[in-house]
Amino acid sequence: MSATFSPAGTLRSSYDDIARRVTLAFDAAVDLAPGWQLAFTSLQQLTPVDTDRIDLVEQLASFHRLRPVEPIGLGAGSTWEIGECEVSHQARHANDGPASAYVVSSDGSTVPVTVAPMLGPPALTPARPSVHDLEWLDEHIDASDGRPTLLPYPNHLAITDTTPSDTRTAHLAAFDDGADAAWSAVAALARRRGSDALTDDGTAAVTARLDARLGASAYRLLVDGTSIDGPSIEVTAGDLDGFRHAFVTLAQWLPSGLPNGARIVDRPRYAWRGVHLDVARQWFEPEVVERLIDDAAWRKLSRVHLHLTDDEAWRLPVARYPALAEVGARRGHGLPIPPLLGSGAEPVGRAYTPDEIARWVERADELGVVLVPEIDLPGHLHAALTALPELRDPDDTSEATSVQYFEDNVLVPGIDATHRFIVDVIDAVAELFPTSPWIHVGGDEVPDGAWSGSPIARAWARSHGMSTTNEIEAAIHREVVDAIRDRSGRAVGAWEEAARTRGAVPGDGYVVGWQSIDINRELAARGFDVVIAPGQAYYLDMAEDTAWATPGMSWAGSTSLADVCAFDPEAGWSAAERAHIVGLQACLWTEHVHDEAALRDRLFPRLDAIAERAWTGSIVGGAASVARRSAAIR
Ligand code: ACM
Repeated sequence: MSATFSPAGTLRSSYDDIARRVTLAFDAAVDLAPGWQLAFTSLQQLTPVDTDRIDLVEQLASFHRLRPVEPIGLGAGSTWEIGECEVSHQARHANDGPASAYVVSSDGSTVPVTVAPMLGPPALTPARPSVHDLEWLDEHIDASDGRPTLLPYPNHLAITDTTPSDTRTAHLAAFDDGADAAWSAVAALARRRGSDALTDDGTAAVTARLDARLGASAYRLLVDGTSIDGPSIEVTAGDLDGFRHAFVTLAQWLPSGLPNGARIVDRPRYAWRGVHLDVARQWFEPEVVERLIDDAAWRKLSRVHLHLTDDEAWRLPVARYPALAEVGARRGHGLPIPPLLGSGAEPVGRAYTPDEIARWVERADELGVVLVPEIDLPGHLHAALTALPELRDPDDTSEATSVQYFEDNVLVPGIDATHRFIVDVIDAVAELFPTSPWIHVGGDEVPDGAWSGSPIARAWARSHGMSTTNEIEAAIHREVVDAIRDRSGRAVGAWEEAARTRGAVPGDGYVVGWQSIDINRELAARGFDVVIAPGQAYYLDMAEDTAWATPGMSWAGSTSLADVCAFDPEAGWSAAERAHIVGLQACLWTEHVHDEAALRDRLFPRLDAIAERAWTGSIVGGAASVARRSAAIR
């Protein structure tokens, strides 16, 4: 099986928003002998309408394999009209259509197929200027807003002597315990980003003192460029985090030259300043996560939430279940998990290794970033259930379909293997992430009707006096929470659904409200500590605008930098509700994010607006200022 030669053709698609249908056609570039099939993945599930002509041989979520009902040869230059397909959701962007494709030849070999961007309705195509458009940036962004290019901007910054100095580097001259380690970590971070600003022979002499009275994560910084002994910088920090924050501020500021006098008094508004990355939907090399940890620390974000498991892949190594990595982490043609969400015939993906995870933990610990590993239970488990079929009820007839079109992707209570699996996975995640105070256990999007046709789950539910899906869901959640507490002593994070089913209770840890800001507020009013991440503002997988060609999702609308900046998460909250805000989190789901370049394109500059809001509670200078400072620190 090889995919090294030229494409077998092109898959074309167009979307009709009135009929809500996608029309597909395959232009062959080579001669195909009868017996060939066409496979493709798509963000949407597409179901051909003309079943007299088109045989849908296989369909799993976003994977489709088709063939003509009557086997026919296809000559180079001819077209196979697949015709109209029903779509699972309204399309809003070209990337809602086919994302990858290949031909399976009559001899079983596979040949890649080019995928043309899906054509869309003209009404959906007006573009609004993108902040990635440098010409637009030049025209619209006031480059003279005069602020130092710091991001997040400090809460209090006064330039006390505007005389420009040539102070572009600094060294650590005197320090209290811990400051030297913080300095080394931030200096190394800066070097990885191409700056030698913090260096042993730097121009300015930094003294770093600890003063616990400043409080957690806080720092003060005093620049004096006038002394005859040379420029000096006094740093006072409330704790180790405060030192890191002060040094990041310096490392961002020095390259553009410090003024002769400046004073900063700074502390974060929220302890939880998070960014989430879905490493299940796509395979990202471990270095991508290392770079994300760096990106987080550089913006004074304090949490990196790693979504390690989902229907499409399981990326956590669990020694007791090698199949989770061997089967559950790879997809490709002919494998138990087929290509999905843009992957092709060749096998792709794997689980991360314990050594790779240890490197993340080490990097995060030295930079003061807390990793929050997520194992998504009891739904979103297609990959794990494919790897470990003993976790399924063989007689389950529920056919409960998830929003991403996976059937019966849930843990089944009442099977001994399920309860062992929960414990073993919790032990593994606790061991792999030894310094994480929280384990996030998912809890989102359990499909309607889950367990309804599972004799084992129904018998178990009856014997425990339960009759609804919600009750089962909540009971599994409680089992997981109790196991985490008892076995690892960690607190528990969960998506909002766990609180809605009453599986999660205030005091377990925290919940993330994602479907709307109102839900966050409701949960806070019920006494839950909330991490605010509403899709409408903080899901960075949402497209930045409504243009058809703009990449991204659309279920929560489109979210420009200006939208993110304008969103005030606390607006209208009572003081009692505010007391339950733990912080803010940007989330990046990766269904359509096929590589690191796309990942960075979705993150920046919008993540920087969220980092600023989480640090200061506001956006300093508006979207134009964020865009300018974001570009400068990247
Ligand atoms: C989620 O977006 N399903 C948490």
